[in-house]
Amino acid sequence: RTIRLADYRLPDFLIDAVDLAFDLREDGATVTSRLTMRRNPATSDPAAPLVLDGQDLKLTGIALDGEALGANRYTVDAEHLTVTDLPGVFTLDITTEIAPQQNTTMQGLYTSGGNFCTQCEAEGFRHITYYLDRPDILARYTTTIVADKAKYPVLLSNGNPVETTDLGGGRHRAKWEDPFPKPSYLFALVAGDLVAVEDSFTTRSGRDIALKIFTRRGDHTKVDHAMRALKASMAWDEQVYGFEYDLDLFMIVAVSDFNMGAMENKGLNIFNTALVLASRETATDGDFQRVESVVAHEYFHNWTGNRITCRDWFQLSLKEGLTVFRDQEFSGDMNSRPVQRITDVRRLRAIQFPEDGGPIAHPIRPESYIEINNFYTPTVYEKGAEVIRMIHTLIGPERYRKGMDLYVARHDGQAATCENFVAAMEDASGTDLKLFRRWYSQAGTPEIVVEDSWDDAAGRYSLTLRQSTGPTPGQPDKQPLHIPFALGLLDAQGRDLPVRLAGEAAPAAGTRVLSLTAAEQRFDFDGLAARPVPSLFRGFSAPIKLAPQPRDRLAFLFAHDSDPFNRWEAGQQLATQLLLEGVAARKAGQDWRLDAEFVAAIGRLLDDPALDAAFIAEATALPGESFLADQMRVIDVEGIHAVREAARLAVATALRDRLLAVYRANDDHGPFDVSAAAVGKRALKNAALSYLGLLRDDAEATALVLAQARGAQTMTDVLAALTVLRDRDIPERAQVLQDFYDRWQDEPLVIDKWFALQATSSLPGTLDAIRALTRHPAFTLRNPNRARALISSLAMGNPLHFHAADGAGYAFLADQVLALNAANPQLAARILVPLGRWQRHDPGRQAAMQAQLDRILAAPDLSRDVYEIAAKSRA
Ligand code: ARG
Ligand code: ZN
Repeated sequence: RTIRLADYRLPDFLIDAVDLAFDLREDGATVTSRLTMRRNPATSDPAAPLVLDGQDLKLTGIALDGEALGANRYTVDAEHLTVTDLPGVFTLDITTEIAPQQNTTMQGLYTSGGNFCTQCEAEGFRHITYYLDRPDILARYTTTIVADKAKYPVLLSNGNPVETTDLGGGRHRAKWEDPFPKPSYLFALVAGDLVAVEDSFTTRSGRDIALKIFTRRGDHTKVDHAMRALKASMAWDEQVYGFEYDLDLFMIVAVSDFNMGAMENKGLNIFNTALVLASRETATDGDFQRVESVVAHEYFHNWTGNRITCRDWFQLSLKEGLTVFRDQEFSGDMNSRPVQRITDVRRLRAIQFPEDGGPIAHPIRPESYIEINNFYTPTVYEKGAEVIRMIHTLIGPERYRKGMDLYVARHDGQAATCENFVAAMEDASGTDLKLFRRWYSQAGTPEIVVEDSWDDAAGRYSLTLRQSTGPTPGQPDKQPLHIPFALGLLDAQGRDLPVRLAGEAAPAAGTRVLSLTAAEQRFDFDGLAARPVPSLFRGFSAPIKLAPQPRDRLAFLFAHDSDPFNRWEAGQQLATQLLLEGVAARKAGQDWRLDAEFVAAIGRLLDDPALDAAFIAEATALPGESFLADQMRVIDVEGIHAVREAARLAVATALRDRLLAVYRANDDHGPFDVSAAAVGKRALKNAALSYLGLLRDDAEATALVLAQARGAQTMTDVLAALTVLRDRDIPERAQVLQDFYDRWQDEPLVIDKWFALQATSSLPGTLDAIRALTRHPAFTLRNPNRARALISSLAMGNPLHFHAADGAGYAFLADQVLALNAANPQLAARILVPLGRWQRHDPGRQAAMQAQLDRILAAPDLSRDVYEIAAKSRA
């Protein structure tokens, strides 16, 4: 059944208060719920029945205003409890039995490592009790939890603790009260044997907030970074947005079995351990940064998501796009801003662009869905963040802040829509965003072609931009979008010139934000002594694809652009052109060598003292195989791999001594920290190592790799060396991998890295190795992190072997999808996505991918989640 945005209706009933009581036992749980309800004055049907959502529940009691309800007054089906003949105001008492220990779906109430926890977004609450499980129902919750005191000493829910009581007989009870009305998806409960690390934060108005991070015993030594990130987030949100925390207690709980990254439940965030635990020995610098950004993301949801929530799930990007934009800006302030932007754009291009060009392309505000869990997508999150960023770019930071203030003034305590958000931005800024709204309803990545011309006599430079967006499923015809066009003009020395539109007074030199609003539009610039070099879409001012630019321009920008993003981008675009030329040459059986000028440019970057190390590491890395594939009409899987590796080897060979010098200069053995400077040094050192490691006959380079793999003191360094060895068929490889396993076998998150590493190897026989790893005692499909480490690493991080011409990679993925379909539909649907990207492969691969989709679609008892992705992918 398809759910449509156009079918949204106000609820017939409202819930003012919810009193929940949980009796948690080893054989299940009893949930009693008292709902204080009334008919919605805003709707008209006084006789409408009450239809509550509920799934996999055993109803054992129902009473209206304290009186047991006769069987003629209600009906139960697989997804609802319907009650008729209700008065205007009433209370409903409902008792249900559930089986958290048998719940493998990781939604609703389930157990992880013997502890109880919940995941209710989007529709998990209906697996706990009958309820109006929709985000526009805001109610005040109290929660009472009764459980064994020895097994579950810690009992948590949203809000403030109001009472704990020893009940005797080894059982105890805790009661929680959340003063803020909230939707059911923000409900949370945790019961377990956990230890807390505590700290505090004083808000700008002087309130002391207790901060607690709960983990299993032993993991509590790895939460310092998360706690630091939490305090930094709280301070940042006050400074940048004026948002202060609103309860006296903020808690985070780490759980090992979790489908997603983390969840912003009011006052009680629940995190995947992978996104909260970090230590020097077990986590890479990338992990540290992800922990920081996800801690911030979930904390930021307290205002953008919780205080102001979504009217319906089509509005998901209202909270997710906005909150991702907020966490990206926070991370930019905490770390290297240019490298943060580069990382975010890389990610957008790696995961969102393919989605926008594939079978499940959808606008950031989708119009329909079968299973909402399938719409927690890179489009809703990452493209959604780009849309907020474009508003920020178009109206500027001050007016953006006024827009946020107005949005909060209007909608605090409400369930809002994307339209409400844009209207607030429009009203506060005085900028017409009518056309801009199309970003919310139109799918697909716009493509932009730019032509320039120079009139020497008039001193006038002109740029003509053409935009077009290709068809996507259900949207054959596209309209022009309002696209912020951040432009710089450089002189022959690479200095920024004023960007002066014809007829204007001269502005200051530097970047200028223009608006592209038509399918074709010309911009004329005056006051120029000579033809300038344009730096287009600086900072990636819109999520678009820009047509290839002249190589001499790219080479110039790669050497000179003052906009660090565009400097990096020029290098990537230049490398892309060169590598794709190599792929074509290889296919035609011709010789090809990486342009010596380009190699020399990389060499100059390596020891440019004006640049920071993290930036150099990014700028000297070639574009990845998936990015290259995304630029080809018909993807040449082997060609891309072979040419890219040949190019990397050419860089390593030509620059060997300089790479070695860079390695040594950045090999820091001082005290460990994750400051931008220290992280940058490690990144540059390891960028050099990844090139040096390609020099197979170079004993010095190989010794360096082995020494770092065996003896490095940080996971960043160990993993960088292992990543080199992963692709090298040398005798030491097996032993180093075994030693790593032996050392870390009790650290699940490190063992995940061990699986992922092997799944991404380019060596022959990798798929057999992966199949063998599915039988390793440490492998299980039941733990999402472990399943993703092996399966998604192959499907998303190893194009060479996933897209093996014989189709074995596809068959393997389909096997895993079917194995997970019943136990964990959400995860099964997610790992299936790469199988739908057959459109730009050769006919043989297309047929092989489609055959596996057909096999999945023919399986009995397909979950809604898997059905939706497989069916849309096959269409
Ligand atoms: N709201 C969470 C976040 O962005 C994600 C929860 C998604 N859960 C799900 N089952 N789809 O941080
Ligand atoms: Zn979120």
